[in-house]
Amino acid sequence: MTPSYRIVLLPGDGIGPEVVEEARLTLETVAARFGFDLQFETHLLGGCAIEAYGTSLPESTLAACRRADAVLLGAVGGPRWDNPQAPDRPERGLLALRKGLSLFANLRPVRLFPELLGASTLKEEVLQGVDLLVVRELTGGIYFGPRQEAGEDGHEAYDTMVYTRPEIERVVRVAAQAARERRRKLTSVDKANVLASSRLWRRVTTEVVTREFPDIELEHVLVDAMAMHLIRRPASFDVIVAENLFGDILTDEAAMLAGSMGMLPSASLGEGTLGLYEPIHGSAPDIAGKGIANPLATILSAAMLLRHSLGQEAAAQAIETAVAQALAAGYRTPDLAGVHGPDDRVEVVGTQAMGAVVRQFLSA
Ligand code: IPM
Ligand code: MG
Repeated sequence: MTPSYRIVLLPGDGIGPEVVEEARLTLETVAARFGFDLQFETHLLGGCAIEAYGTSLPESTLAACRRADAVLLGAVGGPRWDNPQAPDRPERGLLALRKGLSLFANLRPVRLFPELLGASTLKEEVLQGVDLLVVRELTGGIYFGPRQEAGEDGHEAYDTMVYTRPEIERVVRVAAQAARERRRKLTSVDKANVLASSRLWRRVTTEVVTREFPDIELEHVLVDAMAMHLIRRPASFDVIVAENLFGDILTDEAAMLAGSMGMLPSASLGEGTLGLYEPIHGSAPDIAGKGIANPLATILSAAMLLRHSLGQEAAAQAIETAVAQALAAGYRTPDLAGVHGPDDRVEVVGTQAMGAVVRQFLSA
C-alpha cells in the first residue's frame, strides 16, 4: 500500500505564503518520485488569523495540527500587528502552537554550502568545516514563565526564567542523542555564574550526560562567551544545547555563518513523531509579495519534515542534494546575489524560479 501522510500548511504572514508554496510543490515532486502520498490542508496562524478569527491561534488550526503527521510553517508577524498594547500578537500564536503541541526540542542545523562561503561576513578560513546543530529548548524558560506587563503607569514589568528538572532532562537527551549520531561532542550553554535556573540546567545536563551518554564529550560554556566563540571558532562545535531565549539569540547569530537567514531550516519536535517545521527567518514584510524571497530555508525545512516526521530519509536527502545542485549551478535569490567569484556564472532568480530549479534537479 502507498503510504499516505497528512501535512498541515501554515503559510502565515509576509513572505510565508510564497515560500511555503514552493516547499509544498517540492514535497509533491518528491512524493511522486519516492512513491508516497501527501494530503495538504492549509490553516491560519499569526496575523492573518487575527484578521480572520480575532485570534492568532484559532482552535481549528491547533486541532488540525494535532491530527496531522507534520506541520509546515512559513512565518508570522508584521508591522501591522506590532502595537504593543494589542491584546494578541502573531508571535503569541506561534508560541501557543509550540506549547500546545508540546514541541520542546527545536533543531536548528547550520550547514554551509561551499558556494555560499563568500556570503558570510566572516572570513572563509573561519568557516571551513562548520557543521553544527543547535538544539534549543522551546516550551519553557523566560518565554513561558510568570510575567507582568507594565501597567498604566509604565513603571515596572517582568518576565521569569523557570526550568524544572524534567524539562531540562528531555531536551538534553534529544541533544545528546543527536551528538551520538554526529561527532559526539555536546556544548551546553548557560549563564550559571549569574542565574539560578542556569545552575540547575548545568547540574541536570551533567547528570544526564554522565549517566546516560558517557560516550559523549560534554562542555559547558557561558552564553556571553558562546556568542564570541560561535564566530571565532564555529567549526569546533558539533551539537549545542541551550535554553529557549539563549537558543533564540544564538541561532540568529549562527545563521550568519551560513550567509543568509534565508538558508536555515528548523524542526520542532516533542515525544512523538509529530513535528513543526519552519525556516528560522521571519516574515520579511519589506519584501513580501515581491516574489524575491529565498524559499530554500523552507524547502530545507520540508526535507527535515520528511526525515523526522515521515521517516522518508531518502526523499529528505534528495531535496538537500537538489538544493545543493541549484546553488552549485549558480542560481541565487537576491539575498545571495552578491555572492560569487568574478568568474562564476550566477543567475539571479525569484522565489518561484528558485523553487522550479530545485524541482528540476529533483526530477532529473
Ligand atoms: C524564532 C523566532 C520566534 C521566537 C518569534 C517569532 C516568536 O524569533 O523562531 O526564532 O522567538 O521563538
Ligand atoms: Mg528567533
